[in-house]
Amino acid sequence: MKNNYMKYLVILVVIIGVGKLAWDFMMPQNAMTNQGDMMSGGMMNRPQIQNKVVAVADLSAFETAGKTLFDANCAGCHGDNAAGVEGAGPTFMSKIYEPSHHADISFYRAAKMGVRAHHWQYGNMPPQPQVNEADIEKIVAYIRRLQKENGIF
Ligand code: HEC
Repeated sequence: MKNNYMKYLVILVVIIGVGKLAWDFMMPQNAMTNQGDMMSGGMMNRPQIQNKVVAVADLSAFETAGKTLFDANCAGCHGDNAAGVEGAGPTFMSKIYEPSHHADISFYRAAKMGVRAHHWQYGNMPPQPQVNEADIEKIVAYIRRLQKENGIF
């Protein structure tokens, strides 16, 4: 009698264990949350607004020109100091936008062709035909400096 009881208990525990594994398997987003940076499950949980961006005091002339262009053309969605704007666009002060994840070319491409929403839920970024490649070069210099000073890379 006691033996049977133990047997049923073990079977019950095994069933619960297998059930839990099956559940995790069917719900991959549960297992993925908080995992690596570019995985689709965890991505939406990463910071989109960065409230602690430190402005750079000693920008070069080239970087200052980039800041002026950024403020006029990009900050409306990407925020002052690229800190992001709630409901409009993501911060660039995040590992996701460091050079090894989004190389400089992605800035040229974004301005020229726009960006189809793929990282966030802000919707698409429209093309910015009013900025040319020379402008983007300055904007990128400014963003990279900001990222560097803020310890992003
Ligand atoms: C009308 C709002 C808006 C403006 C203005 C805007 N952006 Fe964006 N941008 C977005 C949104 C939204 C995304 C995120 C899309 C996504 O990945 O979901 C984005 C993404 C990007 C990306 C990432 C591209 C990628 O490959 O993932 C870059 C780079 C970028 N923007 C650069 C710029 C620059 C430079 C300017 C100014 C010349 C600018 N944006 C102006 C809304 C905007």
